[in-house]
Amino acid sequence: MVEHAIETEGLVKVYRGRGGEVRALDGVDLRVPRGVLFGLFGPNGSGKTTLISVLIGLQLPTSGSARVLGFDSVRESLEIRRRVGVLPENYGFYEHMTARENLEYLGRLDGMPARELKRRVSEVLELVGLKEWADAKVKGFSRGMTQRLALAQALLKDPELLLLDEPTLGLDPQSVALFKGLMEELVKQGKTILVSTHLLQELGHICTHAALIRRGRILAQGSLQELSKAYREARGYGYEISVAAGAEELVRELRGIEGVTYVALENDVIRVRARQDVTEQLSSIASKYRVRSLVPLAPSWDELYRFYQGERE
Ligand SMILES: Nc1ncnc2c1ncn2[C@@H]1O[C@H](COP(=O)(O)OP(=O)(O)O)[C@@H](O)[C@H]1O
Ligand SMILES: [Mg+2]
Repeated sequence: MVEHAIETEGLVKVYRGRGGEVRALDGVDLRVPRGVLFGLFGPNGSGKTTLISVLIGLQLPTSGSARVLGFDSVRESLEIRRRVGVLPENYGFYEHMTARENLEYLGRLDGMPARELKRRVSEVLELVGLKEWADAKVKGFSRGMTQRLALAQALLKDPELLLLDEPTLGLDPQSVALFKGLMEELVKQGKTILVSTHLLQELGHICTHAALIRRGRILAQGSLQELSKAYREARGYGYEISVAAGAEELVRELRGIEGVTYVALENDVIRVRARQDVTEQLSSIASKYRVRSLVPLAPSWDELYRFYQGERE
């Protein structure tokens, strides 16, 4: 059993064109654990699409190597494509064919047995909420519907690993919600998902792990907890305490804790910031009051991105 679903070493991709050279990937060491919802976060042009194409062997790396599910991305790309579902940046379907016909066609190309294919096509169309549109021509499909069909295509072979490149870009809110729900569900079932986006606020909160990429380099990667550690040590620890009664009194006591730099009360919620981890002191004081909840705050991926980006400049 291979430990990581994806593992790259010193991955470099240089595009050479008339305008000169672009280092789209500049020494990427990516490690994606199995069974997690992993975000690949970075602005436009940071190298997300290039990285995904290299992983599935659509692009050759200039140097370095990548293993996906234990297979080498250059020598064993067919093995990878057999096991990995990909939602590329732009998927082209045959517009004069229906949603079902498109999927059946793709499945046949992949050598799926006819009966399994028929069953599976109905299944994935239902999963992505296109059941009623299964026999409609793709020609009239909205962006949301096309993108749902692209997800159905990625799920067709019931792959253990999914690579989704900016799946929610330009989608209506219902489709975004459906995509997020499905991603979480698939990971619960044991699958691994790598999802790229520059919309950290839209997809960040569903990812438990991420790599933050900028100009072809990984700024930081790991679980939210791991990456929050350095952030908290530099920026402080945040807490939210929800109180049923006696809030003013509690606020006064909290202000006395060593290391606490900020305490504010708003609508029965007390926000606390501290230089160090004061969870124990807070709990012990809070136990004397009618406290509904005491929650240590995690930074958002957005805050983490800005933090790790700042560190490198
Ligand atoms: N086929 C290509 N030829 C030349 N340059 C490319 C090509 N594809 C991407 N690039 C450049 O590589 C960099 C990374 O692009 P890309 O991987 O598409 O980033 P992202 O997906 O994060 O927006 C950008 O500067 C982009 O202009
Ligand atoms: Mg891209």
